[in-house]
Amino acid sequence: MKRPGNVITTYLGAFTLLLCLYSIRGDYCEVNHCFNGATCVTGLGDDPFICICADGFGGDTCNLTEIGPCSPNPCRNDGSCEVIAPTRRGDVFNEYVCKCQPGFEGVHCQINVNDCANQPCKNGGTCRDLDGDYACQCLSPYVGKQCQLRCISLLGMEGGAIVESQISASSVHYGILGLQRWGPELARLNNQGIVNAWTSASHDRNPWIEINMQKKMRLTGIITQGASRMGTAEYIKAFKVASSFDGNSYVTYKGDNQRRDKVFVGNTDNDSTKTNLFDPPIVAQYIRIIPVVCRRACTLRMELVGCELNVYSNTAGCSEPLGMKSRLVSDGQLSASSTFRTWGIDTFTWHPQFARLDKAGKTNAWSPAHNNRSEWIQVDLEKTKRLTGIITQGAKDFGVVQFVSVFKVAYSNDGELWSTVKDENTDNDKLFQGNIDNNTHKKNLFEPPFYARYIRVIPWEWHERITLRMELLGCDD
Ligand SMILES: *[C@@H]1O[C@H](CO)[C@@H](O)[C@H](O)[C@H]1NC(C)=O
Ligand SMILES: *[C@@H]1O[C@H](CO)[C@@H](O)[C@H](O)[C@H]1NC(C)=O
Ligand SMILES: *[C@@H]1O[C@H](CO)[C@@H](O)[C@H](O)[C@H]1NC(C)=O
Ligand SMILES: *[C@@H]1O[C@H](CO)[C@@H](O)[C@H](O)[C@H]1NC(C)=O
Repeated sequence: MKRPGNVITTYLGAFTLLLCLYSIRGDYCEVNHCFNGATCVTGLGDDPFICICADGFGGDTCNLTEIGPCSPNPCRNDGSCEVIAPTRRGDVFNEYVCKCQPGFEGVHCQINVNDCANQPCKNGGTCRDLDGDYACQCLSPYVGKQCQLRCISLLGMEGGAIVESQISASSVHYGILGLQRWGPELARLNNQGIVNAWTSASHDRNPWIEINMQKKMRLTGIITQGASRMGTAEYIKAFKVASSFDGNSYVTYKGDNQRRDKVFVGNTDNDSTKTNLFDPPIVAQYIRIIPVVCRRACTLRMELVGCELNVYSNTAGCSEPLGMKSRLVSDGQLSASSTFRTWGIDTFTWHPQFARLDKAGKTNAWSPAHNNRSEWIQVDLEKTKRLTGIITQGAKDFGVVQFVSVFKVAYSNDGELWSTVKDENTDNDKLFQGNIDNNTHKKNLFEPPFYARYIRVIPWEWHERITLRMELLGCDD
């Protein structure tokens, strides 16, 4: 992967705002007095109208061409232009130099570097090129930034690490006048004996067996096995899997097909084992096996395959940018309580989709319609990730420095029920110290880190207007 130098410069568009003083009255913008694609605005203070010029134009009515090597900006992809002392390189006369954002190169930053060129994803993972970064989609059971780790531990049904109290079921079959209890705690792979598996009660129309792993784990597969009762094979021929973070709300596993529940093919006899992989893996604390088709009775012995979520030993190992800047987080994943428009002009809308660290341009951050503590910006990471920190940054609106100086952070797994990050010592909502100017990156760590799919930043104090660019830090685990 090619990484450009670590100088990050933000190009705040050379923007000319000129006030015109004309002694005429009426709706002055009805006839557009502004040239070259400029926007005409009335109703601002005492001035009858003003022209907001497009890049590269100036003068009261934007009829003058601003001339200079950096105006209009010749650099593409948010690159910043710097005027330099004229130099001669071969036959080419240089007056400016473009400083490119990470992921772009070329004289005018016109080349999007292919961060996948060196095939960073191992073990069959698929690479996606981002702006200055890449993302690997791993094949199960591989995990990690580069799919370099194997997530294949046996979680302890057979070995006993999962204890009886962690296993429950919708019902239990009692055999031979109620003397044999085919309880869920027996559902262990290769369990021996006459009564050696879980069987649901024959009247149970919606049977399930559940394992509470006591903390969130990553599951990459399941091994199932039937059993024989009184000389006859009993097993689950087909089943579904559901999972939950809290033991209350469950989602049925759908695999890559988002429309239909995935039905796994189970066993065909009383003893052989069948392994199914979860691709993509399941991250959950509770896992339920839901028999769909059973032979004679729903009888099961099983093992779970997976690994601890926290394969990184410390926070430092889990502090990758989660994709605000690189655009791994797409525009559709960003939303906000409201958006501000400078002078009510659509072209100058401060969308939540602009809240990307180091974004350049005239409107290059999120700003809400009102400046009070009810406003928020939300990131939907689309799956649960481990969050370890946040970087925030302010911006300028037509030369006015604006930023969020104090903020809160809330998170959620369903987008409905929210928890606010608390201060470890006081147990009050944690107030994060934010920015002090229009451009510096301010980093805050989440201590302890948390797991969430949805994250909200709630501005608490600000300078001029609530204005925010940001990046989230964490990892897939
Ligand atoms: C630009 O417009 C102003 C009046 O609005 C006029 O005086 C001036 O001559 C114009 N300049 C050019 C280059 O057209
Ligand atoms: C159960 O499986 C074992 C080993 O495959 C086989 O020998 C036995 O016949 C089977 N019993 C029944 C009842 O199917
Ligand atoms: C924030 O402003 C909006 C619009 O003026 C208002 O509806 C809302 O109640 C305000 N919230 C607070 C906490 O002041
Ligand atoms: C805004 O940030 C830029 C880049 O760091 C800096 O050069 C400039 O002085 C800042 N503007 C103000 C008004 O602080």
